[in-house]
Amino acid sequence: MPRLLVITSTTRPGRVGTAVADWVLGLAREHGGFEVELADLAEIGLPFLDEPDHPSEGAYIHAHTRAWSKTVEAADAFLILAAEYNRGITAPLKNALDSLYAEWAAKPVGFVSYGMSSAGLRAVEMITQVAVALGMTPLPDIVTLPLREVQDADGRLIPGERRERGVHALLEELRRYSEALGQLRKPAAA
Ligand SMILES: Cc1cc2nc3c(=O)[nH]c(=O)nc-3n(C[C@H](O)[C@H](O)[C@H](O)COP(=O)(O)O)c2cc1C
Repeated sequence: MPRLLVITSTTRPGRVGTAVADWVLGLAREHGGFEVELADLAEIGLPFLDEPDHPSEGAYIHAHTRAWSKTVEAADAFLILAAEYNRGITAPLKNALDSLYAEWAAKPVGFVSYGMSSAGLRAVEMITQVAVALGMTPLPDIVTLPLREVQDADGRLIPGERRERGVHALLEELRRYSEALGQLRKPAAA
């Protein structure tokens, strides 16, 4: 079974990212087409890139980079939970992406975005630019969570059925793309 890595983008205490992750993980497990793993950047606690060599060398000297490399390498597809900070990508996510290189390549990436005025879409645009540089294939359809509309008075997340269907469709596209891109990840014939 292909492996889906769901990646959070925020680390602050009390973040909405935790509720978004719970919601998406539930739907991904329901989908059934993947082995699902969560990469919670708050738990992983990756330091700012502290490797002497460019990540494309894969010559990591630190155990934390090696562990992150193993997690990302094992995945066949990524689903990024993209929060928007100051109209762009969050620092922990950018650092997590920059810390590796080949591990991301020839794999699809989907986005569930969230935020205030643009529901995280401006962050997705920036992440897409980085994802392409790393050889990922970003999927065009994005599930957006405009927080003013999808939270109740107590701050609970209520995304609704339409967005649930959107996540299911995104998961199915990730499955199809991961299968197709699997060809590119096979070692080239001699
Ligand atoms: C540092 C910071 C910057 C933010 N900048 C934006 C922004 O530019 N646009 C926006 O729509 N929301 C912005 N927000 C609101 C966040 O999208 C919202 O708080 C979201 O819950 C952040 O994700 P988190 O709760 O997982 O940290 C910002 C929030 C923070 C903490």
